[in-house]
Amino acid sequence: MEKSKSVFFSFAFLFFSFSGPSPLVTFGQLLPIVEDQEGNASRIQTYIIHVQRPAGTKLLSDADRENWHKSFLPNTTLDTGEPRLVYSYRNVIGGFAARLTHDEVTAMASVDGFLHAHRDERLPLLTTYTPAFLGLSERDGIWYASCSGKGAIIGVLDTGISPTHPSFDDKGMPPPPHEWRGHCDFREPLCNDKLVGAAAFRGGRPAPVETDDSGHGTHVAGVAAGSFVDGAAVLGDAKGTSAGMAPRAHLAIYKVCSKDGCDDSDILAGIDQAIHDEVDVLSISIGSRPRSSIAGSQPRPFYEDSIAIGSYAATRHRILTCVAAGNDGPYQGKVVGDAPWILTVGASSTDRRLRATVRLGNGTELDGESAYQPSSFDSTLLPIAFPGYDDQGGRRGCGNDSFGGIDVKGKMVLCETGYNVSNIEKGEFVKKAGGAAMIVLNQREQGFTTFSEAHVLPAAHLSFSDALVIESYFDSSTNNTPMATIIFKGTQFGSRPSPAVASFSSRGPSLNNGGILKPDIIGPGVNILAAWPPNVAPTNQVSTSTSTFNFLSGTSVATPHLSGIAALLKNTHPHWSPAEIKSAIMTTADRVDRDWKPIADEYNGGAASLFAMGAGQVNASTANNPGLVYELHSHHYIRYLCGLGYTEQQIMAITQHQIKCSNHHDIGIERLNYPSISVSLGSPARKTIRRKVKNVGQDNAVYFAEIEEPAGVEVEVSPYRLEFDRLYERRHFYVILTTNGTTPGKGQVSEGQLSWVSSKHVVRSPISVVFS
Ligand SMILES: *[C@@H]1O[C@H](CO)[C@@H](O)[C@H](O)[C@H]1NC(C)=O
Ligand SMILES: *[C@@H]1O[C@H](CO)[C@@H](O)[C@H](O)[C@H]1NC(C)=O
Ligand SMILES: *[C@@H]1O[C@H](CO)[C@@H](O)[C@H](O)[C@H]1NC(C)=O
Ligand SMILES: *[C@@H]1O[C@H](CO)[C@@H](O)[C@H](O)[C@H]1NC(C)=O
Ligand SMILES: *[C@@H]1O[C@H](CO)[C@@H](O)[C@H](O)[C@H]1NC(C)=O
Ligand SMILES: *[C@@H]1O[C@H](CO)[C@@H](O)[C@H](O)[C@H]1NC(C)=O
Ligand SMILES: *[C@@H]1O[C@H](CO)[C@@H](O)[C@H](O)[C@H]1NC(C)=O
Repeated sequence: MEKSKSVFFSFAFLFFSFSGPSPLVTFGQLLPIVEDQEGNASRIQTYIIHVQRPAGTKLLSDADRENWHKSFLPNTTLDTGEPRLVYSYRNVIGGFAARLTHDEVTAMASVDGFLHAHRDERLPLLTTYTPAFLGLSERDGIWYASCSGKGAIIGVLDTGISPTHPSFDDKGMPPPPHEWRGHCDFREPLCNDKLVGAAAFRGGRPAPVETDDSGHGTHVAGVAAGSFVDGAAVLGDAKGTSAGMAPRAHLAIYKVCSKDGCDDSDILAGIDQAIHDEVDVLSISIGSRPRSSIAGSQPRPFYEDSIAIGSYAATRHRILTCVAAGNDGPYQGKVVGDAPWILTVGASSTDRRLRATVRLGNGTELDGESAYQPSSFDSTLLPIAFPGYDDQGGRRGCGNDSFGGIDVKGKMVLCETGYNVSNIEKGEFVKKAGGAAMIVLNQREQGFTTFSEAHVLPAAHLSFSDALVIESYFDSSTNNTPMATIIFKGTQFGSRPSPAVASFSSRGPSLNNGGILKPDIIGPGVNILAAWPPNVAPTNQVSTSTSTFNFLSGTSVATPHLSGIAALLKNTHPHWSPAEIKSAIMTTADRVDRDWKPIADEYNGGAASLFAMGAGQVNASTANNPGLVYELHSHHYIRYLCGLGYTEQQIMAITQHQIKCSNHHDIGIERLNYPSISVSLGSPARKTIRRKVKNVGQDNAVYFAEIEEPAGVEVEVSPYRLEFDRLYERRHFYVILTTNGTTPGKGQVSEGQLSWVSSKHVVRSPISVVFS
């Protein structure tokens, strides 16, 4: 099976010149054009082709631009009559998507103006965590009630939307700003002052925006900017109001995904449109996943990553892009969406639980969760069945046919998470086999993160540490039958520790970005209740198919929280650039939880590392008044990309502008004026890092540096005092990091922080040191 497909790379040695009024530019780098994964050079596939614009072209009309793009194609139609050109991009890249064979792309590489090509890939939606269902419309914590994001426009790239959902009602909404250029492609006139734009992108062919076949897009949009929806009950216990993070912000929906995933070429087209429409913030809950099969676990470089490329163009148009960090935790080095111009969002739990408490036969109680809480269940003790207990095999997963010799009829069945069977499916199998109830046991990797899911029978989901208690109880019950039951307690607030990093949230370090600390931030992403299309049943049982709210977990749900907060900041600080909004969010994040303890990691219960939480938990109210911000501009990013060692063509595929790395001295990656600090240090070694801050607090501000040194590193800040006479003044400073030979071993990581403290502000940057 292995290597059944040949993989080949083509390389072209190109010395091509591009003439125009500007001086002749000559490239002489090795240019890897594209790989054909299937090893079939005559198969037609969609490719994304980056080209230079012909000289002096800013004013090209749409038709001119399209003709320029078509001039690269062998002819305009395929033998089937289908057009070759899929998209002719306006803003997002200089280039197009087209249906071509590998050989045709290779031939194209010798045409003047060609920069780079890569094959369209399909990216996953980040919903590994099973949606569950509950008929209610209350959500916890509109933390940020003071600010509602009025006038800001959030662009959501996802699976579309269910436009008639009450969360998208426009009662009390102002009309969109005049600059708004978006349009509405619903088949009926369903746009309003909340939903101000809707467009769909699917291989260049028309597609309905109002079909959200997975519910993901509707949920994400509801989290970002859902309108206030007054109360339904949570299991009859709690009443409340549902709303998004920025309930007065407008939404523009770009459908670029179906439930099967999202294609790069469509993502680029969606971002292209969003830039044209002039949204303020982009929310992308799609995994910019590592390139699969061919290159092993090598992540895709930024110049082949549609989300990195698209968000770079968005940044140049002053649009901040928030992207999900991925759901591949707790393993290290899995973070995606990690370009330095992106706000990369990890997930944390809230303090709300839908309690389902397990009581063991010996009286011990263990708190778990379930969204399905049947009042008919009388909580009498049932004998426990533990499929797979002895053989430790796959049967512990309660998959189909897992119960082999074991009689589960009328019993409380223990099932471990995983084994490629969702928790809800486990319940379906247990029920079918006659089981009375189920306890889902986390494995070590899931730690303390549990889900409120719409189980089909009485169930409780327990943490790994509680799973060990049950196992030990089961194990020790040799003389009497082990028994257990479940007590349903409804919605409870005040669970601790909170917030804590969800075990599934993808961790750094980034393998792709040359040392920028990622994720940047964490936000709520476990059991989040928001809008759900009534016609999409997340599960087929508990649903009455009219329910319009649902729980979802994942970094995909954390991301729109940050998009909503960015929209609030865009509203209160219209002149802030994307980098400034990001800086404000990061330098004011909380690194302690509600009990003033370091934010915990639900993987193991210990303190979360910087690779798990970045700057920490977003705090919207402090972000609104950060005191100082770290600015970043295109030329910083170009210098940074040169520092990554990309070729000039590869960089130009991202920047769309002529660049010359030799014009940029000081291209060290650590020189990027980022709001967090991440360095690699030998031993002994000394490194000096320059940073520059802008005063956005008030006139006559004085800040002092406060350092928490990473273990084994001496940190000096010069100057240690920054004085600003006026608002918007800038000051730079140096951070000097020294190791003295007695440091932790190679590959070890050490953490600290730098805070600039005034009488009114604390501007905090985490410091991550990797010893090399
Ligand atoms: C390559 O692709 C072409 C067109 O899709 C197909 O006709 C041909 O059978 C493929 N060859 C191989 C070896 O897969
Ligand atoms: C387009 O070009 C391809 C190869 O370059 C050729 O096989 C095909 O017949 C052409 N189609 C048309 C409609 O000219
Ligand atoms: C479970 O297994 C049975 C028998 O092998 C099969 O008929 C059924 O379709 C399976 N169900 C699922 C959901 O895989
Ligand atoms: C898991 O399930 C999916 C679809 O149900 C299947 O495609 C995949 O091969 C399975 N993986 C394993 C490891 O069994
Ligand atoms: C019940 O059994 C578990 C596992 O052996 C044990 O940890 C717990 O302390 C016991 N509870 C009581 C009340 O004895
Ligand atoms: C935000 O920060 C402020 C000031 O440090 C703190 O009082 C507040 O509890 C934080 N808010 C949240 C929701 O954590
Ligand atoms: C080296 O640094 C460590 C930690 O900062 C410190 O404990 C130690 O005394 C230093 N050793 C020398 C020789 O300076």
